[in-house]
Amino acid sequence: MKEITITSKINVFESIQELPQIEQSLMRKAIEVRKNAYAPYSKFRVGVAILLDNGEIVVGSNQENAAYPSGLCAERVAIFYAGAVYPDAVVLKIAITAASDDNATTIPVPPCGACRQSIAEYEIRQNTPIKIYYMGETGEIHQSESLRNLLPFMFDNKLL
Ligand code: THU
Repeated sequence: MKEITITSKINVFESIQELPQIEQSLMRKAIEVRKNAYAPYSKFRVGVAILLDNGEIVVGSNQENAAYPSGLCAERVAIFYAGAVYPDAVVLKIAITAASDDNATTIPVPPCGACRQSIAEYEIRQNTPIKIYYMGETGEIHQSESLRNLLPFMFDNKLL
């Protein structure tokens, strides 16, 4: 038997003001688009802004459905849109923010497992890391230098 130990590095920014300029404005776009979430069931609004290497910024918010599993997270709304409209662009950075209508969200909200898997596909496809920034409504921002860092032992196309 041998043991495998994995480590993940996350950088922590105290607040949005501590982010570099580009990341700050990307996060502000995510905050703005969070308002467009259609979240009548969870009352949990997520906004995402994605910066592409062609300078475009693609946004998304979560879209729920009365048949709950038919809804989609903000991250996948945004990254699938980026893939659909700019198939040749490289995804550089993703900013994520979440806020609840019911209580204060002060803890950084990372992408769910399914969204990590979806973002991973793009990181593998473009063969360059995607920087992920995520926060709640207020408070610290966590940053990962790549998606891989958030999804160790990922299932990828090399396993097929
Ligand atoms: N949600 C996202 O948009 N992204 C995530 O990574 C986690 C969850 C949405 C899905 C649902 O509309 C609401 O948040 C509550 O789970």
